[in-house]
Amino acid sequence: MTALLEVRALDKHFGGLHVTRAVSLALHVGDRVALIGPNGAGKTTLVNQVSGVIPPSRGSIVLAGEDVTKLAQAERVRRGLARTFQITTLAPHLAVQRQVELALFEREGLTGRAWRSIDGYPALAAEARALLAQLGLGEHAGLPTERLAYGEQRLVEMALALALRPKVLLLDEPMAGVPKSDATRLLAALDALPAALAVLIIEHDMDLVFRYARRIIVLADGAVLAEGTPDEIRAHPAVRNAYLGH
Ligand SMILES: Nc1ncnc2c1ncn2[C@@H]1O[C@H](COP(=O)(O)OP(=O)(O)OP(=O)(O)O)[C@@H](O)[C@H]1O
Ligand SMILES: [Mg+2]
Repeated sequence: MTALLEVRALDKHFGGLHVTRAVSLALHVGDRVALIGPNGAGKTTLVNQVSGVIPPSRGSIVLAGEDVTKLAQAERVRRGLARTFQITTLAPHLAVQRQVELALFEREGLTGRAWRSIDGYPALAAEARALLAQLGLGEHAGLPTERLAYGEQRLVEMALALALRPKVLLLDEPMAGVPKSDATRLLAALDALPAALAVLIIEHDMDLVFRYARRIIVLADGAVLAEGTPDEIRAHPAVRNAYLGH
């Protein structure tokens, strides 16, 4: 099966710091992969390279068979790659529904007309409503995002990523800072992601990782230390020593 996303021998140096070391990985249709590793292991740096925020020092990124290493973020989005950020990046004053509408306009190449009301695009308006309902945000649609609880804001970020109809979704610590009371809704949203979507999730909560992921990649000091099923990772001696701590 052709990979939707292939990372080939990626290296990243920040000055004298070697932060990504010969990392290779692949994501396929329907994948649920967790990328784990201690603070500073290079997880966010890897996602930043894959999504085009920063260029790799060496290596390549292939999306659905096409080398996108030199392409800008927006070009990768257009080809089916979406991500969320470790720290929230929403427009605080804009209504939730409006932000989703703008993401839909962007996907449809209608950004020049973004000042228009979505009323002229009934199919997109319906899609925005359905997406917000799917994520349990329907009743907040008219509120500015700053009025939402933090966990709900993270759901809005997921809605914006999904509005792009991605083939590959990279989630950088979607649960970070989310209180227990909101965690259930986020977990439900993760469970409800489209079956064919290839998901890579960075997460420190090992209960969530081992429940959600069908494959786990362990990063340590910028390199892949291990990769396998949850059972294989649980039993992996080097992982237990380096990361799980028991
Ligand atoms: N722009 C940058 N310039 C210099 N060093 C950087 C830069 N970005 C990240 N680093 C360094 O790269 C290393 C990896 O950082 P990164 O944020 O990728 O780790 P992480 O695995 O995502 O950690 P966390 O679990 O804390 O989010 C760290 O030592 C960090 O200080
Ligand atoms: Mg990080």
